[in-house]
Amino acid sequence: MNESKKKNELEAVLDRIDLSQPEPAEEPMRQYYFMKKARELVEKQQKELGRPLTFCVVTFGCQMNARDSEKLTGVLEEIGYQEIQEETADFVIYNTCTVRENANQRVYGRLGYLHSLKKKNPHMMIALCGCMMQEPHVVEKLKKSYSFVNLIFGTHNIYKFSELIVTALLSGRMVIDIWKDTDKIVEDLPSERKYSFKSGVNIMFGCNNFCSYCIVPYVRGRERSRNPKDIVREIEKLVADGVKEVMLLGQNVNSYGKNLEEPITFAQLLLEIEKIEGLERIRFMTSHPKDLSDELIAVMKNSKKICRHLHLPLQSGSSRILKIMNRHYDKEKYLTLVEKIRAAVPDISLTTDIIVGFPGETEEDFLETMDVVEKVRFDSAFTFIYSKRTGTPAAVMQDQIPEAVIKDRFDRLLAKVQEIGREMSSRDTGTIQEVLVEEQNEHDPHLLTGRMSNNLLVHFPGDPSLIGQMISVHLDECRGFYYMGTPTKA
Ligand code: SAH
Ligand code: SF4
Ligand code: F3S
Repeated sequence: MNESKKKNELEAVLDRIDLSQPEPAEEPMRQYYFMKKARELVEKQQKELGRPLTFCVVTFGCQMNARDSEKLTGVLEEIGYQEIQEETADFVIYNTCTVRENANQRVYGRLGYLHSLKKKNPHMMIALCGCMMQEPHVVEKLKKSYSFVNLIFGTHNIYKFSELIVTALLSGRMVIDIWKDTDKIVEDLPSERKYSFKSGVNIMFGCNNFCSYCIVPYVRGRERSRNPKDIVREIEKLVADGVKEVMLLGQNVNSYGKNLEEPITFAQLLLEIEKIEGLERIRFMTSHPKDLSDELIAVMKNSKKICRHLHLPLQSGSSRILKIMNRHYDKEKYLTLVEKIRAAVPDISLTTDIIVGFPGETEEDFLETMDVVEKVRFDSAFTFIYSKRTGTPAAVMQDQIPEAVIKDRFDRLLAKVQEIGREMSSRDTGTIQEVLVEEQNEHDPHLLTGRMSNNLLVHFPGDPSLIGQMISVHLDECRGFYYMGTPTKA
């Protein structure tokens, strides 16, 4: 099904809705009703102003948030706003992240700027959603000091966006709707994909792991898996619509399916997705080492579509710290797991997340982390300075580490992961790799950028008509973390 056909189907549904009737109770029909109602309100305002209304979605945080933003965009387009990239738009929404304090501060900083824009454009609607809004102290602060915000909602009721827009447009006050948790998953709402040829697909929501430093379980709620049939149906539609690569999304995809009425494993889900004709590549994130099964390794080994890349967050190399982090694996178990994966899939690229400066981390603990980095030889690693999150067990732990000590360890770790990453990244020089062509190079329009199975990028000369296609490229030269290449003739 192509994009226009999908739109027509939704149009047909909206056409049949009678706004003089009360709103339906069941979803997603209720949201379709409010979409139509919002469209009326937007049209009216456009007439009054004599110009089209615009919107801008700003996304902070992880891929889960990026996917949610596509849903926000889908709704805003459906009700008649036009997308622009500037925050001078008539409807600006921030989809926030709170995993580390600096993500949080950025939002407050930018809100001040939005306020100045709103003074010039009194019709402007400002909305905030996402993980940060699930924290009561944030909402309190917004109520007190940021009363110009029109709409605040959280992660659990994002499917109600259409309804909330109507409420906000009709009421002159700040509308706040935050749910503590939910067991609900609403399917079949519109979304607008950023890329035509690849797409994120949620397979589960929430997290049950409660790593002691992490706020995600508190702001994303308990783990809920989508029905495998709904996932396969969504991917089939995406493929019919031109998508070649999907990224399956969840905080811990390895525990997928455990809470379904008919439990299935993540590996079994992958086998089902592999069967979808026309789909060329499957990626997923994130894998928690504690639940990564032999079954999954076997499926990856035998798969033609699953990409040769695994993101396997380490967090720390010290077994003592890992225990306090509540990660449920130790240094040895992690190293054994990596050996098993490399034995089954030798060309796999391994990437990771590491936290420096967790409370009580000693120089010895830190050297254990450096040791794992040297032993595993990650292709790349995201390194984070520990950030204290109110409400998590680690926030009240004794022995928070002084900034200067953390900074010194962080610099040493970063230098090490970069040095190893450069060496690892260059190992395919001289080979021919299949790439999915993603875009024209920003700096040089004669170049295209393609993504390899192992997630590295290669730049090569080519015509933009190739964007969205799988082609073979010879890797001529590695420049740090990317390649320069030449397409091979088919
Ligand atoms: N569910 C994923 C991680 C999601 S958060 C997993 O378990 O792997 C992404 C990364 O942010 C984490 O892997 C961790 O390295 C980092 N992170 C989470 N909480 C943090 C904190 N309080 N301070 C610093 N980094 C943090
Ligand atoms: Fe956070 Fe741990 Fe859940 Fe990942 S698995 S989201 S780090 S609590
Ligand atoms: Fe941030 Fe929420 Fe993702 S806290 S990392 S946006 S799940």
